[in-house]
Amino acid sequence: MGRILAAHARVVTAGIFVPERVLTNADFEKLVDTNDEWIVQRTGIKTRHVVSEGEHASTLAFNAIDDLLEHHPDVEIETVDYILVASTTSDYVYPSLAAMIQDRFGIPTTAGALDISGACAGFAYGINLATGLIASGQAARVLVVAADALTRSADYTDRSTCVLFGDGAGAVLIEQSENPGILGMTSGSDGSAGKFLFRTNFRFDINGTMDDTRLLRQDGRNVFRWVMENIPGTIASILDRAGLTLDDIDWFAPHSANLRMIEALNKRMEFPMERTLLSVVDYGNTSAVSVPLALIPAARDGRVKSGDRILIIGFGGGLVSAGNVLVWP
Ligand code: ACO
Repeated sequence: MGRILAAHARVVTAGIFVPERVLTNADFEKLVDTNDEWIVQRTGIKTRHVVSEGEHASTLAFNAIDDLLEHHPDVEIETVDYILVASTTSDYVYPSLAAMIQDRFGIPTTAGALDISGACAGFAYGINLATGLIASGQAARVLVVAADALTRSADYTDRSTCVLFGDGAGAVLIEQSENPGILGMTSGSDGSAGKFLFRTNFRFDINGTMDDTRLLRQDGRNVFRWVMENIPGTIASILDRAGLTLDDIDWFAPHSANLRMIEALNKRMEFPMERTLLSVVDYGNTSAVSVPLALIPAARDGRVKSGDRILIIGFGGGLVSAGNVLVWP
């Protein structure tokens, strides 16, 4: 590979995928003590797509990249020189999903390949990192993939969490550009709130309890409160760094974890729901995938237009947050 000049970055194109199997609220009424009214009122969720036996995060990722290539046959995938994958539910600890993608798509072995653990902020973290790789001249074309099969880590005996999650993947190709197409990159974490949302791994004691299930545990009320206390400030930082105000934003694409929470955020920011992109109603909380799953269909059906500015914000386990403003290609 020749020398790459440091440059601005922009999104070139994108793809998405959700698995075929659908779980409705009525399906959960048969599993746990819940009902459609509670789920819709508290979360807005009506359906979620979930992996079947034999489907993994890699299956979702491969299909999202296939979708990107089908919609944009002119993309030469072998010119990608970095692969970043956001996932907390990868097939293996290693090989990474990024290395599996390198192999499946015949991307050169000289391309960087790295999985990042940014939970529900992973997609925004990936875009921020890709922009940095391009700005520093380490890469010219970065494939950023979000792929999560969160239902694999859900406890189907816990009604307060199992109804929330769905599976899917999104992929965006980011490349160097003359003008900045990714603005206001902001990233952060608050480890003191990590106890509100966790999955154990090799260590089982956490927050004064033991949990050897390795399944997702969430204190939803405290996560909700943390989001309301912290995310408006993060959004203000993104806009400040981008040199923009909310009036300059065409679309808001927050992590689609909970419709009620997004409505509360919008009310606080005085930003209209009509210009907010959501995936939570049809797909549930798909973690790192929830933003691409809201944004890419909107770009395809003509709501999001070329040149539109989209404010992205992700937040989740860690607790972590990341966001930016994308200028849509
Ligand atoms: N069906 C019926 N009742 C239920 C259910 C259910 N599925 N789940 C909980 N309840 C009950 C509770 O037991 C409780 O009953 P009680 O009052 O008798 O004790 C009552 O409903 C209220 O429970 P809360 O947990 O306080 O409900 P809340 O209104 O907070 O809604 C929710 C829960 C939807 C999880 C919400 O708190 C939330 O969305 N929080 C934010 C989650 C989030 O954004 N996560 C971030 C990223 S996710 C990631 O990183 C993986």
